[in-house]
Amino acid sequence: MSDEFDAVVTTVRDRVEPDREERARLREAVDTLTERIEAAIDELPVEADVVQVGSTARGTWIAGDRDVDLFVRFPSELPRERLEAYGLRIGHEVLPDGREEYAEHPYVVGEFDGFDVDLVPCYDVQAATAIQSAVDRTPFHTEYLNGRLDDELAADVRVCKQFLTAIGVYGSDLRTRGFSGYLTELLVLEYGGFRPFVEAAADWHPPVAFDPEAHGRREGELSRDGDVAASDLPFDDPLIVIDPTDPDRNVAAVCSEESVARLQHYARELVAGPRVELFEPPEPTPLDADEVRDAFDRRGTTPVAIGFETPELVEDDLYPQLEKSRAGVVGLLDRHGFDVLRSRVFADDERAVVLAELEVSERPAVKRHEGPPVHVREHAENFFERYDGAAAAGPFVEDDRYVVEREREFRTAAALLDADAIFEVGHGAAVERQLEESYRVYQGRDIGTLAERFGVELAAYLEPTP
Ligand code: UTP
Ligand code: MN
Repeated sequence: MSDEFDAVVTTVRDRVEPDREERARLREAVDTLTERIEAAIDELPVEADVVQVGSTARGTWIAGDRDVDLFVRFPSELPRERLEAYGLRIGHEVLPDGREEYAEHPYVVGEFDGFDVDLVPCYDVQAATAIQSAVDRTPFHTEYLNGRLDDELAADVRVCKQFLTAIGVYGSDLRTRGFSGYLTELLVLEYGGFRPFVEAAADWHPPVAFDPEAHGRREGELSRDGDVAASDLPFDDPLIVIDPTDPDRNVAAVCSEESVARLQHYARELVAGPRVELFEPPEPTPLDADEVRDAFDRRGTTPVAIGFETPELVEDDLYPQLEKSRAGVVGLLDRHGFDVLRSRVFADDERAVVLAELEVSERPAVKRHEGPPVHVREHAENFFERYDGAAAAGPFVEDDRYVVEREREFRTAAALLDADAIFEVGHGAAVERQLEESYRVYQGRDIGTLAERFGVELAAYLEPTP
């Protein structure tokens, strides 16, 4: 295969490799933080220790992207409330300007010497299979990978993370639903490097399953991407990587079909034409209001949107709620005859938008409504009586049935979205509360005004890439 591939990887590798100074600063920060945490532990009526986990513990972080994950391990008998209270007390003592975040339990995040520090309490358990809280597994991940990733593989992991980031599939958050850091490391390890990984991914036929520690009941059943019948697989996901430290967990559980497909597309691009640009996240030029209007004009479609204040939720709650509303709104529009061509949600800290692009801008004043066959006497008579004089036209007979034409309640999508009908569809709780408070409907040329805030997102929407 091409040496170009290797040349490109070498360039990227140099870019994403933290230099000596960054490594030294990280080590110093971790040492200082560890000392402070240990001092804070000494004040507590309980034994505990500190472990560094995550990519900065494994040497697989990307230069400049420095989050330090420090876990405080408490004895497994400690009641959960005490673990939480001690964890927060240490967190605030070590990171006085830190703020609390909430995963399975609360923890403190804060800045220290230019690093973003997560200080998370967990239980010191015997094995990842004996966890009491989801975060208890994390130290086992680090132990597993530290014993297996050498410098070469660690460099390939960084290149791989950069590639996945550039193509928009890095991260196990519920907005991205892509590849987590740990998953990336396991895949690079499984294939023995970045290049064999992308070359293989280009040919995957999902579901693709891996079982690095052969936890599967039948030996070899889940190795590599061999032909395994989907029904034999222990998880119903497009990508399955059995956690080496916990056979009951699929490390790729949140990775969506779309993220796998996107990876496959860009893996083929990279293999066919290696270039550094594939490792650089695209930065679409934002469109202004007129450009957005012109673009929809050229497409001859009718954009509509609802906009509202972004509910105060963490992203992992916000995006699933917005997606639920999007699906509901699309269904509502379709049911009322406003065929949806494409739709998307946009959000920043202040405003959230559900956009739908319609193939139909306006429906006629009447709509067709078919009744029963005339020979089904009782139903037919009831139908005739109900609509006789009450329909815009008919009842009349067509083939063997009664048909009427009724007034349509909503002739435009904007009117529909402006009405209470919007509450007929399922929304997440926080979005629903927000909609009840207030929302705005955008239609047609109005959509241009969204460019001010979402010009980049609209540019990406109007010029979609894989
Ligand atoms: P991070 O999200 O910080 O990932 O989670 P990372 O591996 O350090 O990668 P980058 O370089 O920052 O992007 C820290 C650790 O927490 C566990 C993993 O062990 C991970 O390495 N974790 C995190 C999970 O098990 N599942 C997750 O969804 C997220
Ligand atoms: Mn990390």
